[in-house]
Amino acid sequence: MDQMEKLVSLCKRRGFVFPGSDIYGGLANSWDYGPLGAQMKMNIKSDWWKRAVEMRDDMVGLDGAILMNPKVWEASGHVATFNDPLTECKHCHRRYRADESPFAEHWNEKTGFESAEALQCPSCGKSGVFADVSRFNLMFQTHIGSTSESGSQVYLRPETAQAIFVNFKNILNTSRKKLPFGIAQIGKAFRNEITPGNFIFRTLEFEQMEVEYFVEPNDWEQQFEAWNEWMGAWAEHIGLDMSRLHRLEVPAEELAHYSKRTVDFEFDFPFGKKELWGLAYRQDFDLHNHTEHSGEKLEYSDPDDNKRKIVPHVIEPSMGVDRTLLSLLVSAFREEEVDGDVRTVMKFVPHMAPYHVAVLPLMKKDGLSEKAREIFEYLQASFRCEYDESGSVGKRYRRQDEIGTPYCVTVDYDSLSDESVTVRDRDSMQQERISLTNLLDHLRKCMPYV
Ligand code: GAP
Repeated sequence: MDQMEKLVSLCKRRGFVFPGSDIYGGLANSWDYGPLGAQMKMNIKSDWWKRAVEMRDDMVGLDGAILMNPKVWEASGHVATFNDPLTECKHCHRRYRADESPFAEHWNEKTGFESAEALQCPSCGKSGVFADVSRFNLMFQTHIGSTSESGSQVYLRPETAQAIFVNFKNILNTSRKKLPFGIAQIGKAFRNEITPGNFIFRTLEFEQMEVEYFVEPNDWEQQFEAWNEWMGAWAEHIGLDMSRLHRLEVPAEELAHYSKRTVDFEFDFPFGKKELWGLAYRQDFDLHNHTEHSGEKLEYSDPDDNKRKIVPHVIEPSMGVDRTLLSLLVSAFREEEVDGDVRTVMKFVPHMAPYHVAVLPLMKKDGLSEKAREIFEYLQASFRCEYDESGSVGKRYRRQDEIGTPYCVTVDYDSLSDESVTVRDRDSMQQERISLTNLLDHLRKCMPYV
């Protein structure tokens, strides 16, 4: 099994990620997050929100609607340009993106396929049976109301960003922030991807954590650098394997329709180096277009400069929650030999791990279980804890290693008389005797960001 297969299997076995609609045979490329995956997504989002919004005074939050007036997507350029070049094998009907491997080297954005007869379908092996490339819009459409007559058609948002631009004036009026300031949002986005896949890497619905940071036009380079650094520091803080993280300056011809400069944060996933997050300079593209389409002036008047009016420019850090989780899983995964056996251990930083502490009575016995439950309830107020008393303690340690719990607190017979417990460190597997009066402080020191 390669690393990815091992991860997918661990995720299902331990309750991180399940195939979507599992009992009905699944739905291709849809995934449900189980108890541990849901907790980790929550950890990612709340840490991001804390650091991007709560710990700064130049940032505020928004929770916009998924369904928006369709004019939003005309103004944003998504109706006209949010599409991928699609081709299809006429023999097996498998669909491909013309700008991705193995077609990309034969594909030219302006002139189409060169030597189309030579193209071979990676799925059925037939050559020369490819349909002409068409542009395929990635937005999902749906209808409001009981009929599907035109006029009731809406889109599921393909990015969270637009709700921020549309609310620019509301937020400016109510928060009275001065430039530079930013608006952050976390929420679901939907894309009808032609080639979804690689587990939770590219899916049809996913979550984004986005900031639109509004700046003076001549200040954009400095603010771009500041967010570039912020993203790198956050990557380190959440425990990404920094040796796998690379910044790519996106070439001009590959920039999105709104961007003047983009840096992609790429990550070495087991299936290759791929985009994890993006940082874009969106200029005044969105505020300008929404002003034109809505008739509402989206500008800022500078209170320190005679109410000088400007349309701010925008720096946009955009980060996928699901890809962040996948990169944490890849970064944490280890197989280590211990006493001739292989232990699988997920070395998450404690603040990202599903549980901080597992409380384990040495055996499921009267007296021990009660004491362990008492300690569990006491620790629960400060840490995410799990209580487990089934099976041998060795097996329970292995299970906690596999789900990445940094500390196990074991309650044995001596605990009943000496009011102490054994604390086992996941990574070193060292065990330390700690008195109950010091336990909380000890664990707090071991896990500073919890
Ligand atoms: N507002 C800008 C924007 O949406 P993007 O590069 O298209 O930019 C931003 O998307 C991030 O959203 C990506 O870097 C990635 O983390 C995540 N993302 C995009 N498409 C995704 C998909 N189909 N599945 C999972 N995550 C996705």
